[in-house]
Amino acid sequence: MHIRSDTRALVTGASRGIGRALAHALAARGATVGLAARSTSELATLAAELPGAHHVLTCDVALPVSIGSAIEEFVDAAGSVDLLVANAGIAHYEPVAEQSLEKIEAMTQVNWLGTVYTVKAALPAMLERGSGHIVVMSSGAGLRPFPGAAAYSATKAAQRMFAEALRHELHGSGVSVTTVYPGEIRTSLHDHERSRMPEWYRGGPNAATAEALAERILKAIEHDARHLHYRPAVKGMGILHGLSPGAADRVLRRLRGRTAAPRK
Ligand SMILES: NC(=O)c1ccc[n+]([C@@H]2O[C@H](COP(=O)([O-])OP(=O)(O)OC[C@H]3O[C@@H](n4cnc5c(N)ncnc54)[C@H](OP(=O)(O)O)[C@@H]3O)[C@@H](O)[C@H]2O)c1
Repeated sequence: MHIRSDTRALVTGASRGIGRALAHALAARGATVGLAARSTSELATLAAELPGAHHVLTCDVALPVSIGSAIEEFVDAAGSVDLLVANAGIAHYEPVAEQSLEKIEAMTQVNWLGTVYTVKAALPAMLERGSGHIVVMSSGAGLRPFPGAAAYSATKAAQRMFAEALRHELHGSGVSVTTVYPGEIRTSLHDHERSRMPEWYRGGPNAATAEALAERILKAIEHDARHLHYRPAVKGMGILHGLSPGAADRVLRRLRGRTAAPRK
């Protein structure tokens, strides 16, 4: 699909990070943007910065009724939804033995089920119209899991399988799906746990920017790409892990140190 002034795009997790950068990139192309997240004040600040038409949609993707009403509100206001970006997510990096069930359940509810609730709420109208594009924000962690990110990686792998199967299911329907696998991006995702990130983690000031990723995502949508890996090394690691997890471990130990794959 081409993103232009008549495109109606809804982005979940728009209040910060990748979603916020995407909202800016979409608004710069003239799209009408639905800004969905829980933080009304951050969404209002974003809305004040954006050119063109946009709609603040305060909602919680972990609650089907909440995201369902937000999508309905956007469709009523904008006429329909052409582009849906299921991006909202949370992360808690901790060894499984130390991590509470509450945190694992929260990641499952937001990252995995939140994606399902978001897609299920928007898909019927897209199918009825015979057009639309869905972006699912998975992660490099869904391709190659890291110690300390077991539960997070599991939610990202669930999104991956869901989105890749859905793309095939929707063949011939006019609706398509792009799955995005970002590596480490400079956002607020880990702000609450910065002081205890695993040694192998390379996010922070030198990581890729959300703005650069957002531009690549728009290009991927316009080319109806099956997936986008950003940066490209994420793809290499995914392929290597699929071929030989042991070989991927050896490469990661060299690049990121022993904590990336401690067990030989
Ligand atoms: N940053 C990275 O290195 C990286 C790498 C790979 C994949 N990703 C994925 O990219 C996506 C965006 O993450 P980010 O890095 O941009 O993180 P971020 O800066 O923390 O932004 C996360 C966004 O998700 C929203 N959100 C969280 N829980 C929500 C809920 N229950 N309902 C609605 N919105 C919710 C947040 O808004 P509210 O708190 O206002 O609700 C916020 O707008 C996530 O799915 C993440 O897993 C990130």
